[in-house]
Amino acid sequence: MSDQIRVLIVDDIPETRDHLTKLLGFEKDVDVVGAAASGAEALEMAAKLLPDIVLMDINMPDMDGIAATELLAARVPSSAVVMMSVQGEADYLRRSMLAGAREFLVKPFSSDELAASIRQVHTREREKVGRMAVAAIERAPAAAREPGRVVAVFSPKGGVGRTTIAVNTAVAAASEPGREVVLVDGSFQFGDVGVLLNLNPKNKSIADFVPELEVGGEPESLDSFVITHSSGLRVLLAPPSPEMAELVTPAAIRRVLEVLRARADLVVVDCAAAFSDSTLAILDAADVILTVLTLEITSIKNMRLFLEVAEQLGYAADKMELVLNRADSALGIRVADVEHSIGRKVDHTIVSDGRSVVYALNRGVPFFVSNREAQVSQDVLRLARALGGASEAGPVEARKPAPRKSLFAWR
Ligand SMILES: Nc1ncnc2c1ncn2[C@@H]1O[C@H](COP(=O)(O)OP(=O)(O)OP(=O)(O)O)[C@@H](O)[C@H]1O
Ligand SMILES: [Mg+2]
Repeated sequence: MSDQIRVLIVDDIPETRDHLTKLLGFEKDVDVVGAAASGAEALEMAAKLLPDIVLMDINMPDMDGIAATELLAARVPSSAVVMMSVQGEADYLRRSMLAGAREFLVKPFSSDELAASIRQVHTREREKVGRMAVAAIERAPAAAREPGRVVAVFSPKGGVGRTTIAVNTAVAAASEPGREVVLVDGSFQFGDVGVLLNLNPKNKSIADFVPELEVGGEPESLDSFVITHSSGLRVLLAPPSPEMAELVTPAAIRRVLEVLRARADLVVVDCAAAFSDSTLAILDAADVILTVLTLEITSIKNMRLFLEVAEQLGYAADKMELVLNRADSALGIRVADVEHSIGRKVDHTIVSDGRSVVYALNRGVPFFVSNREAQVSQDVLRLARALGGASEAGPVEARKPAPRKSLFAWR
């Protein structure tokens, strides 16, 4: 487990808050994201920070820990509460558990006990999220729901941030309640998605999924091919070795996307930069092509050429949405210059943040998870929201946020 457990501390006594923050500061896998002094403040902070664990004091003036836990369960169901109390009586325990707390710690407790409880609750919650995601996607009757949107993340030039954007946008979209999101590594020869998400390369991939679809028509269990990341995002990996990419024919890609969009609200595909038949199959099937460019003259030139090709392929102008990555790293080129040069507006911008992005990359944790407050995370969240989940047309600004479906009502 590589990602940090995000903890919010709630206690009305400042010394206790400081003490707990210090104690948890020694745990490498725990990140204290905030400390609240009251139940009301806890609710506000939890809604904003979406912590994994809320360490809640039971006795607080105004709103006590039990009332706060009840409200939290309704408002921020993705956060699990660990209750702290000086009273260890059964009644307190029972009321806490009824309110939705997952664990009960009697003060004083050792730092080992504290860390162990946090880890245990976090692991249990993650396992639950995984199981429920699988159940939800498999329960969803393919015919009864509106098909999801397929969003291809493409660029005619490599190394501009497609995988970074695809992964983090998909994680951001999956973090929204009620949104079932699948990320497909469409870079079939040299896929990087598994690395960015720290997924075991021994997991099954699209190369296992394709033969199954060809034989059986409808796959019996998507779960054996589509992996669930700890964020709740579902992932279909690229084949483990480049020569296996041949198995993934354009016809197979069309079928895979058809099956996935029938079950998910959003299918994000990280494409290869090459204009191969398989990439074209993805671009054809996509509802939206997020075309990524940077403020470099080669990137801009290739984008102009690609927009011409797209027109020849008969893609509607609004099927393409331009994403300017590292938009603030201008070295003599301004956004207006880019827009002038390619003859259209940039639809989305993402700032450059080498620190967050590379740190996240090397740890195998998406920056949207490890550094949610960063501007770069806010940018991908905005992009994820703009993508929607159903096929509403019209300008990005006017588009409604993703429709909330009840697939993930428990989150
Ligand atoms: N917004 C950003 N700020 C800082 N660094 C970034 C940003 N986006 C991407 N990078 C860095 O740029 C490099 C290339 O990113 P990435 O691998 O996502 O691009 P790609 O288009 O998928 O490349 P490839 O053609 O290899 O598939 C990586 O080192 C990544 O960390
Ligand atoms: Mg890539």
